[in-house]
Amino acid sequence: MLKGTKVGLRARHEDDIPILRTELYDDVANSARAEGRPWRPITPGSKDSRLVVDDEEEGHVPFSVVELDGGTLIGTATLWGIDNHNRFAHIGLGLRPSARGKGYGTDVVAVLCHYGFIVRGLHRLQIETLSDNAAMLRSAEHNGFVREGVLRSSAWVMGEFVDEVLLGLLARDWKPETAT
Ligand SMILES: CC(C)(COP(=O)(O)OP(=O)(O)OC[C@H]1O[C@@H](n2cnc3c(N)ncnc32)[C@H](O)[C@@H]1OP(=O)(O)O)[C@@H](O)C(=O)NCCC(=O)NCCS
Repeated sequence: MLKGTKVGLRARHEDDIPILRTELYDDVANSARAEGRPWRPITPGSKDSRLVVDDEEEGHVPFSVVELDGGTLIGTATLWGIDNHNRFAHIGLGLRPSARGKGYGTDVVAVLCHYGFIVRGLHRLQIETLSDNAAMLRSAEHNGFVREGVLRSSAWVMGEFVDEVLLGLLARDWKPETAT
C-alpha cells in the first residue's frame, strides 16, 4: 500500500465495488462532472472498467483509497494515460461524499505524485478538472500543480458546456512531503 499522512492507496477489493458503484457512479450529477463520457448505469456484477480493475492494462492504474486510521474505504484514485515515451500521465480521484472536505483529496494527490514521480519515474503529471471544481483545484495547487490553461467549453455537463482547467506538475518542481 502507498501511504500519505491520512490516506492509503491500495488495490481494488471485491467488497469496494458495491460501495463505489452506489456512492460515486450511481450519482449521475457527480459522474457527469467527474468523467469525460456520458453517464450510463453499471450493472451489478458486470466487469465495467470504471469499477473492475484489468491488471493487464499497463497504461491505467486504479487504486482504492482508504483512511490510514481504520482502513475505511473513502474513494478511488487513478494514474491513467501513462505515456512511457514522453514520461507523463494524468491523475484522477473521487471521494465518497462523507469523506470530502477533510483534507483527504490533497493527501491523495500527494500520494499519486509519489507514485508517478518516484515509483514510475515519470517527468510530468497532468490534471484536467472543471473550472468550478474549487476543491480539486485547491487539492492540486497545494501539491504544486500550476494552471497551464483553460479548455474553453470543453466539457458537456448536465445540459451545458463548462470550461476545464488544465494543471501540470513537473518532477523537478515537485516538493514531496510525506507520502511513502
Ligand atoms: C475534488 C475532491 C477529490 C477534493 O477532495 P477533498 O478531500 O474534498 O478536498 P480537501 O478537503 O483536501 O480540500 C482541498 C481544498 O479545497 C477546499 N475545499 C474543499 N471542499 C470545497 C468546496 N466544496 N468548495 C470550495 N472549496 C473547497 C478546502 O478548503 C481546501 O482548501 P484550503 O486547504 O486552501 O482550505 C473531492 O471533493 C471529490 O471527490 N469531489 C467529487 C469528485 C470530483 O470532483 N473529482 C475530481 C474530478 S477531476
